[in-house]
Amino acid sequence: MTPEEVELVRSGAEALRPHLPVVAQDFYRRLFAADPALRTMFTSDPVLQQEKFADELDTIVGSIARFDEFLDRTRLLGARHAGYGVRFRHYGEVRAALFGAFAAALGAGWTPEAERAWQRAYDMIAEAMLLGSAPSRPQHTWPR
Ligand code: HEM
Repeated sequence: MTPEEVELVRSGAEALRPHLPVVAQDFYRRLFAADPALRTMFTSDPVLQQEKFADELDTIVGSIARFDEFLDRTRLLGARHAGYGVRFRHYGEVRAALFGAFAAALGAGWTPEAERAWQRAYDMIAEAMLLGSAPSRPQHTWPR
């Protein structure tokens, strides 16, 4: 990610903060409409859960420039998610619901540049989380 993209994600996260309760509701509505089976995975209060998510995202985005720290943190987060029952395909479902909710909350502020920056950030975080979610799986090797 470029420094400009990191800044777009950081400022976007700041702009979203005051809208968190609405974003949280909208996010869960979209996610459960796409995959009703996920409903049972979430047991905490949606707004508290979204606050944890937002705090974690702030910390992760703040650590992107320190790659070792970023990887350590996101791998552990991924390992916890594997314990919640989260699997590879869920990452795409969550991304779609999240970005839909962000776009609705930010309106014109959700520019193509902002969306691209968020996509890169989300995918980088999700890939690092997935690395941490299967510690006993043999390392991927390139086909010979
Ligand atoms: C960018 C990706 C994600 C981030 C930053 C993130 C962040 C978090 C954080 C900070 C928590 C609080 C508990 C903890 O720290 O372990 C959490 C809980 C949780 N997350 Fe995620 N998450 C992400 C993706 C996902 C995905 C793809 C799913 C799949 C459905 C998911 C499902 C859950 C569930 C089920 C919980 C526990 C909820 C509960 O206690 O009710 N997360 N997440």
